[in-house]
Amino acid sequence: MNILSIDTSFDDTAVSMTDGNRVLSNVLSTELAVHLEYGGVVPRLARVSHEKNLDRVIALSLKRARMTWQSIDAVAVTVGPGLAICLEIGIAKAKEMAKLHKKPLIPVNHMEGHLLSFLANRTDQISFPFLGVLVSGGHTQFVLCPKIGSYEIVGETKDDAMGEAYDKVGRMLGLGYPAGAVVEKIAQEGREASVIFPVPMRQIKSSETSFSGLKTAAMRIVENAGALDRQKTADIAAGFQTASITHLSEKLAFALAQNPSVCALVVGGGVAKNTALRRAIRKLGKEKKLAVYFPNSGKLCTDNAAMIGIAAQFSKLATFDYDVAIFDRKPTWRLESASL
Ligand code: KG4
Ligand code: ZN
Repeated sequence: MNILSIDTSFDDTAVSMTDGNRVLSNVLSTELAVHLEYGGVVPRLARVSHEKNLDRVIALSLKRARMTWQSIDAVAVTVGPGLAICLEIGIAKAKEMAKLHKKPLIPVNHMEGHLLSFLANRTDQISFPFLGVLVSGGHTQFVLCPKIGSYEIVGETKDDAMGEAYDKVGRMLGLGYPAGAVVEKIAQEGREASVIFPVPMRQIKSSETSFSGLKTAAMRIVENAGALDRQKTADIAAGFQTASITHLSEKLAFALAQNPSVCALVVGGGVAKNTALRRAIRKLGKEKKLAVYFPNSGKLCTDNAAMIGIAAQFSKLATFDYDVAIFDRKPTWRLESASL
């Protein structure tokens, strides 16, 4: 089934063509410079970028996939979670296109997209139940998935998301925005154990995570460090990265102990690009004899529309009735209520 998918949930204007798990095109337009000077995404400016770029990104996605509207079977669109004023741009355009070209419309949950992004271009059989590890700029969740379309959140962050912590610590270190990839890179130059961050919530037996303490610790360490040269910056980045990955791994191990039927780990979201995190999750998978799946490119970890098309193929919500409530934007839509 050829699906044209649109995601405007945050700052990226993303449009993709997929056929089942096969990604035919995956186009992204980001006006990062607009947000850089504010040190984070400004919703109002992101909305303007979506309005300006969406038609062009749709045209490019069709062209790259060598498709015309005749060969498209459905239009899919992210309706949440995300920034309300950005989501509505994608939803309005998807409705307009679907109506014009007489195609069914499929509403998709952005986090279900991240969760299923590992299926992109994959043809092998997946084992169930798997445990999803969603690590993005807005979410940190462990999701039990007995079958596609059925999701239970068995652990999540009490405060900041993991990617958000990378971004905030990166900002303190003067590494720009978004800082995750830059923090990872410079951390490689850090001297092992020269800056020690406390690993959060070690005494608490739960699968909940918390990243705000690491941010506070970073603030104190940066304040006491004096002028930050490259080596000091690298040492702090390395200390932060070690503690945050140790924390995630420990809580993931707890979630696995609570859910012994799990036979695979599936990782998604922007932080899934991180090599040190991948190594830690692979190690845990090996210890527990679990298959471990990641999206097969960095572009499929961070926000993209291919993952929306992949999730859409399983949806039972395809409709020609575009004015029903399911097409309202759902800025806080939880993955559990996206279950079929
Ligand atoms: O999934 P995503 O594109 O957007 C959300 O839905 O939030 O994730 C973006 C997040 C940002 O916080 C970014 O700093 C982080 O992913 N990120 C990374 C890396 N690459 C991106 N964090 C750690 N290491 C990386 N290599
Ligand atoms: Zn995302």
